Amino acid sequence: MSQNEDKRLAALAAADEVRDGMLVGLGTGSTAAFLIDELARRARDGLRIEAVATSLASDAQAKAGGLTVRPFEDVAAIDLCIDGADEIDGACRAIKGAGAAMVREKIVATAATRMVVIADGCKKVAQLGAAPVPVEVLPFGRAFVARALAELGGKSTLRPRGDAPYLTDQGNLILDTHFGLIADPATLARHLSLVPGVVGHGLFIDEVDALYLAEGGTVTRIERSAAI
Ligand code: A5P
Repeated sequence: MSQNEDKRLAALAAADEVRDGMLVGLGTGSTAAFLIDELARRARDGLRIEAVATSLASDAQAKAGGLTVRPFEDVAAIDLCIDGADEIDGACRAIKGAGAAMVREKIVATAATRMVVIADGCKKVAQLGAAPVPVEVLPFGRAFVARALAELGGKSTLRPRGDAPYLTDQGNLILDTHFGLIADPATLARHLSLVPGVVGHGLFIDEVDALYLAEGGTVTRIERSAAI
C-alpha cells in the first residue's frame, strides 16, 4: 500500500463525518487535496455542504470541483475542519505548515466545533520535533524574530521559493525552525506566540479533536479525549 493510497484512505474515512448542511473547513496539502476531491464528488452526488478554505490553493481546488466556498473573513464559526499534518503525537498535538498555510489553518481549526487530522503512518511520532516548526513572520521583524527563536533554542532557516524568499498567502515570510525533540510543546507554543513579529506558528497543541491515521491500508480513528 503506497503512502498516497494511505493519504486517500484517511481522507475518505474523515469525509464520512461530513453531513448535509455542514459548513466544512478544507485543509491544505496533499492529504487534504484527496479530501477536497472526495467532497466535491459527494457534492455532485447530492451532499449539501458549504466550505471555507485554509489556503488560496485549496480554495481554487474546491471551486474547480464545484464546491461552494464562502470567504472565511465573513465566517465566525464552522462545523468541522479536516486537515493534514506534518507530525502528530499520541496526544493529538501536531506540527503543521510544510505547505505554508498554518496561520489560516489554525484560525479555521479553532473556529471549528470539531477538527480532525488526516494522515498517513509516516506522520505519527512519539515526540514532536524531527520536523521543523514553521513560524510565519512579518517581513519587518525577520532578523529580530530569528534572534528571538535562537534564544528559545531554535535554529531557523528562511524558507525559499526558487531564489527568493517564500511568501505566504498573507505576504509574510516563513522561518522553518528546528528545536530538536520538543519536551514541552505547549510551553514552546506559548513562547512563540509571545514574540512580537510572529504572525503565527505551526505548533497545534489543543486544536485537534481526532486523528484518522492510515497505515498499510488500514485506517484507525484516535479521539483526543481517549488519547489524553
Ligand atoms: C499545510 O500548511 C500543512 O499544514 C499540511 O497540512 C501539512 O503539511 C500536511 O501536508 P501533506 O498532507 O501534503 O503531507
